[in-house]
Amino acid sequence: MKAKSYYKKLGKILIPSAKLQRKIREIAKQIEKDYRNDEVVFICNLKGSFRFLSDLVSYVRIPLNIDFISFTSYHGTDPGKIRIIKDLKTDIRNKNVIVVEDIADTGVTIDFIMKYLKDFKYPRDIRICALLDKVSKRKIDVTIHYRGFVIPDKFIVGYGLDYREYFRELNDIRIYNG
Ligand code: IMP
Ligand code: MG
Repeated sequence: MKAKSYYKKLGKILIPSAKLQRKIREIAKQIEKDYRNDEVVFICNLKGSFRFLSDLVSYVRIPLNIDFISFTSYHGTDPGKIRIIKDLKTDIRNKNVIVVEDIADTGVTIDFIMKYLKDFKYPRDIRICALLDKVSKRKIDVTIHYRGFVIPDKFIVGYGLDYREYFRELNDIRIYNG
């Protein structure tokens, strides 16, 4: 694909980089307060959350571990279709865990991850940290403990989020006009 047609697909900036960073610093400070005397394992759900995880931990000043997990990307309502592609390396038994997600849409992914970790990994505690939330699309009621922005039901790309694996490299979150 030529660069010109690549960038032509991008619509307006929904959340500029500086605004993202400001919010991520706020979330990091809240996490710091909540886990003052404790350690946390941050679990990044690949691939969409890699940028968010990276910036988030850079602002958190407590002892922490990082690990990555990956599931088949999935759009639908049959939870039987979700499969794990890459499991954790870290033993999170009896640890405090924060799952870092790029976006909560239907809630199916978050619900699946929560159940998977609880049933198979026995953490002490799990919280969900999602940068973006399309509340209007929710099908499963999931608790999001740390949330960046509520966004409208538009397809967005950038800052880790993709359209067919493209546009993860952008620093802003933008509307996709495919
Ligand atoms: P859920 O399981 O329906 O909550 O979907 C969550 C996943 O769908 C996210 O981790 C994203 O990978 C993907 N997703 C949802 N909305 C968007 C979007 O607007 N742009 C890019 N990816 C999205
Ligand atoms: Mg995705």
